[in-house]
Amino acid sequence: MGYAFARADVAFLGSAAGRAALAATAELPLTDGSLLADLGRVRRAHGAAAAALVETVRLRRRAVVKLDGAGEWLLTDDALQQATPSAVARHRAARLAGREVHDVTCSIGGELAALARTCTAVIGSDVDPVRLAMAAHNLAAVRAAGPDAARPEPGPVALVRADALTPCTRDTVIVADPGRRAGGRRTHDPAALQPPLPDLRTAYAGRDLVVKCAPGLDFARLDWPGEIEVTSLDGGVREACLWSPGLAEPKVTRRATVLRTGQPPSTLTDADPDDIPEREPGSWIVDPDGAVVRAGLVRQYAARHDLWQLDPRIAYLTGAAVPPGIRGFRILDRFEFREKPLRAELRRRDCGPLEILVRGVDLDPDRLRRTLAPTGRTPYTLVITRIGRAAAVFLCTATPATPG
Ligand SMILES: C[S@@+](CC[C@H](N)C(=O)[O-])C[C@H]1O[C@@H](n2cnc3c(N)ncnc32)[C@H](O)[C@@H]1O
Repeated sequence: MGYAFARADVAFLGSAAGRAALAATAELPLTDGSLLADLGRVRRAHGAAAAALVETVRLRRRAVVKLDGAGEWLLTDDALQQATPSAVARHRAARLAGREVHDVTCSIGGELAALARTCTAVIGSDVDPVRLAMAAHNLAAVRAAGPDAARPEPGPVALVRADALTPCTRDTVIVADPGRRAGGRRTHDPAALQPPLPDLRTAYAGRDLVVKCAPGLDFARLDWPGEIEVTSLDGGVREACLWSPGLAEPKVTRRATVLRTGQPPSTLTDADPDDIPEREPGSWIVDPDGAVVRAGLVRQYAARHDLWQLDPRIAYLTGAAVPPGIRGFRILDRFEFREKPLRAELRRRDCGPLEILVRGVDLDPDRLRRTLAPTGRTPYTLVITRIGRAAAVFLCTATPATPG
């Protein structure tokens, strides 16, 4: 939950006195162990502002890995959790370059900071006045940072308090990132989002609309007429973004975008070729990035990288080489799934640390590891999957991802 910031806190924290107090507070360790003593010290120096100061410094320390320039930002605990990581926001902003954009659920400005660098005009709105005040502070910090080698000068952003379901701009691209908590719990129900997805679709019917959603959304039930883009960042699937038909590439309904720090984005769509051969397993097993799997583009990925499937219904791929940027598993042997002989085989090979990957077979890897009880020194990976009707076990050695 975290500290409940008020607008007066935001005004103080953004003032010269607040900035000086934040700088002094940032000198303290503020670890779980030192927190009580540190809080006492800040309270003696800054009285009632102590909780807001300490919370802000702790949130900034957490935020710097997610948000560019967050060392100067004002945030709340929830707003930080909900904010789009800068790398993902930058990718979306690049797709909207040159457009006039209205972010109707702007919160503390995670998306706005990126849009301000690519779009010709940017408006942000939200129902929460505290988050809007924080967004104003954060965007001023972004503008003060100015351009850098990789990013252009940010333009001005207009901020207004408004309900997303009452359109207040015309001819702008609408960007929405509805909250995913309903009654304190995360939801995958589009109608339980805040604001609800069906209501956003009605409010902006016929407009260019971009909606960031959870990657677990049931795409089939959504009946979305444009493109659904699943994005991962450094191996973790972060979001599914809905692009209305006017913003989608012709013939594209699904896209997987793989973002890795320090590498250019890699993207794959359902308009890409998906012809792959049917063959016996090659020398390697390849587990494609989660964005590719979630977007249903495993065949397209295989076709691009000269791979084929172990089984047409399973997302594991196989081939003669591992594509750059992901881990591969070199196949040493293949067995039927029978626990006793498998245990004896692992013992014979002096198996120690054992990674177990399972897809398409109903078993618990932790329970199986306990049963196999590897006690040796050599690390192995077991890839257990279904081929046709039977479970197959591949004994492998894993390699780290090669640079992309
Ligand atoms: C998931 S957050 C957006 C995070 C933002 N994209 C970022 O990167 O920082 C959702 C925001 O929607 C706002 N919100 C919820 N219902 C709204 C509504 N009906 N109109 C406008 N904003 C709303 C909440 O106050 C919250 O700030």
